[in-house]
Amino acid sequence: MKIGIANDHSAVDMKNEIVAYLESQGYEVVNYGTDTNASCDYPAYGEKVANAVASGEVDRGIAICGTGVGIGLACNKVRGIRACTCSEPYSAEYSRRHNNANIITFGARVIGIETAKQIVDVFMKTEFEGGRHERRVDQLMDIEARNCAK
Ligand code: RB5
Repeated sequence: MKIGIANDHSAVDMKNEIVAYLESQGYEVVNYGTDTNASCDYPAYGEKVANAVASGEVDRGIAICGTGVGIGLACNKVRGIRACTCSEPYSAEYSRRHNNANIITFGARVIGIETAKQIVDVFMKTEFEGGRHERRVDQLMDIEARNCAK
């Protein structure tokens, strides 16, 4: 599986640790984030990884900023994206099982690296359950279709 990852200046170290962690497990990782601590604007980086997921360039995405919230908002402005901000593994698991999340986001200023790794593990390994959740996810995408310009 090919994973896209993006981050702003607040999350360079965490991004690097997550990339190394994923690569050690055999995942191919594409870096769409900044690699310096110089202050930058998270929306551009969220858009990059979201476009990569939406186009199929990568299979899933990870986006990290200070809180995970801003970069998650940016990701969710791209058609086809379901980015979920999670600070613990339970929500990350259900973001896959029930919401079919294609991007997970979290905050480098909110959680530590071990929790981030647990979130990434569960996000990578959990499948969408489908069934009644398919109907609900379809309803989400219908909202996008009705309200967002192409
Ligand atoms: C940057 O200071 C910070 O605002 C950003 O990383 C993120 O937390 C925004 O949501």
